Amino acid sequence: MAFPTETVYGLGGNALMSSAVKNIYSLKGRPADNPVIAHVMSLNDVAGDVIVNEAAKLLTDNFWPGPLTIVLARSHSCRICREASADTNTVALRSPKHPAARALLSAAGVPLAAPSANRSGKTSPTEARHVAESLGDEIMILDGGACEVGIESTVIDLSGDTPTLLRHGSITADMIVEKTGIRVVENKNAPKHSPGMLAKHYAPNLPLRLNAVDVKPEEALLAFGPDVPTGATAVLNLSETGNMSEAAHNLFAFMRRLDNGNYSAIAVMPIPDNGIGRAINDRLRRAALR
Ligand code: TXA
Ligand code: MG
Repeated sequence: MAFPTETVYGLGGNALMSSAVKNIYSLKGRPADNPVIAHVMSLNDVAGDVIVNEAAKLLTDNFWPGPLTIVLARSHSCRICREASADTNTVALRSPKHPAARALLSAAGVPLAAPSANRSGKTSPTEARHVAESLGDEIMILDGGACEVGIESTVIDLSGDTPTLLRHGSITADMIVEKTGIRVVENKNAPKHSPGMLAKHYAPNLPLRLNAVDVKPEEALLAFGPDVPTGATAVLNLSETGNMSEAAHNLFAFMRRLDNGNYSAIAVMPIPDNGIGRAINDRLRRAALR
């Protein structure tokens, strides 16, 4: 079943059940070596399943429920199925804030494995109809309106000695150090087991032309800020006031709206590379790879 979270829609199944998680991989066309996040009400729900450390306690105390995913080592008695971990000895955990996601988790009574509810490599869904467009014939969708944050959770690996950032999101490394004192190191080597940090992803059908300061007549324009170049037939502005959270909220939905055969490409204006802008630019760079 697909359900809303504050970041993007997830495609959920019982994380304790191999067959349910295998179904998720096959519906998405997801490579078997890309592990999925188990969603929980609280860290307590999985206390016996993972090796909980101080950093995990601090981060979850400060940022859960919310758009932060932590990766922890599996315990010997881990109930979360192997498929959810792919071929790693770790589990990614997140406690979503969206009331519908919480109601579903509470009713299910088990952790829910849930990747974003899109076909693997494609643009993530931030509205129920985005899920319907790609997976609608095969699954049930719980419609909770447009997702507030609009880009996927920050992923921090806490399974080793050094807390490592695997995926940028709306919770930034600066916010983490400020609230918890934990310094998160950015993983510069494309991590094998976090393909969200790798190569092509989030891709629309049209090519993206990044850092566009002008626009060609046949292009659609994904604008940002008050000063927009003229000449495009189609323009959607991520945020006229230059508000980065608004831009993140609109990013995938606007990319989808411009992604049609009427244009030769989507020109994207530059987005400042700080705060949540890091996460936006990360998505844009991967979406632009051909
Ligand atoms: O905001 C989100 O995180 C959304 C909503 C539905 O919660 N979910 C989401 O899932 O974005 P997905 O599968 O599209 O992305 C999960 C990311 C991937 O980059 C994956 O490689 C990484 O988390 N990941 C999952 N389990 C991991 C693990 N055990 N070790 C390292 N990375 C892991
Ligand atoms: Mg995804």
